[in-house]
Amino acid sequence: MEAPEPIGFIGAGALAGFLADGLLAAGWPPAALWICNRGDDARLLRFAGAGVHVTRAKAEVCGRAAMLLILVKPKDAPATLAELAPLLRPDHLVVSCMAGIPAAFIEGALGGRPRVLRAMPNIGSAARASVTGLAPGRYADAADVDRAAGVLQAVGMVAPVQESAMDAFTAVCGSGPAYVFLLMEALAAVAADLGLRGPLAQRMIVQTVLGAARVAAASERPPEELRAGVSSRGGTTMAAVEVLEAAGFRQALGEAVRRAAARSRELGLAWASLPPESGVRGTRP
Ligand SMILES: NC(=O)c1ccc[n+]([C@@H]2O[C@H](COP(=O)([O-])OP(=O)(O)OC[C@H]3O[C@@H](n4cnc5c(N)ncnc54)[C@H](OP(=O)(O)O)[C@@H]3O)[C@@H](O)[C@H]2O)c1
Repeated sequence: MEAPEPIGFIGAGALAGFLADGLLAAGWPPAALWICNRGDDARLLRFAGAGVHVTRAKAEVCGRAAMLLILVKPKDAPATLAELAPLLRPDHLVVSCMAGIPAAFIEGALGGRPRVLRAMPNIGSAARASVTGLAPGRYADAADVDRAAGVLQAVGMVAPVQESAMDAFTAVCGSGPAYVFLLMEALAAVAADLGLRGPLAQRMIVQTVLGAARVAAASERPPEELRAGVSSRGGTTMAAVEVLEAAGFRQALGEAVRRAAARSRELGLAWASLPPESGVRGTRP
């Protein structure tokens, strides 16, 4: 087996931690990971403890790794891209995990014809159960997508998408875990009303969601068939589902996800309207 390629991390926060843990668990040697942060030494020390290279110098990371994962908050994008621009070589592959920032903005801020991919993981990364949307920018090709997918798979499934589908992906899968958490909250509230309270009730609800997800993942059947299979005429589940349908559950969820997609589009347009040199000026939407 070929030695795993060195990976550079720009930013050493929460997502960097999930990715590093995932890569180490997938067999990446710690010495193949090069991680930098702006300031916080405590964050870097946590990675150093795992035997990973840590530094404050982006030049060192860019010199050692041809694949660069951009793991800073969107607000820090302009400054970070301005620092990276002079360090990039044509063989660098830039994988941005920054939510909502279009590839074109990143390409413009880096200058030239940089190979950029946009990745959108979700919080499932913390449990190596992300679904990560991965879209190529203008200068990246299918081989670049495969190469980045091989790395991002360390935190779960990777779904190649066109960038035009990224707003929909963000609304359905990026924000999706929050909808499920809201469902859990609502279930916990009614469970308490009905007399099921405390940590055991919480665990029962989580296990209910996990069990349903596992059955759906293991089955070829679509969710409506799985639901029909557990809803007997005149039974408890059907009584509950009838109330949800009458109360407009589908419409409410549909409206919510459409609103999330529209918000993602608005944020992307705000970035797209900034001139590339905004990286130097440090402005942002
Ligand atoms: N967390 C998730 O589950 C998740 C999911 C999907 C997408 N994302 C995206 O991933 C990105 C990172 O999210 P996060 O939750 O990991 O954020 P985070 O915990 O705040 O980490 C961001 C890190 O970037 C560092 N940083 C900021 N400016 C820098 C610079 N110029 N050079 C080097 N490092 C710099 C910060 O350093 P300091 O400590 O010095 O501030 C911080 O350690 C965000 O764009 C977010 O949209 C995250």
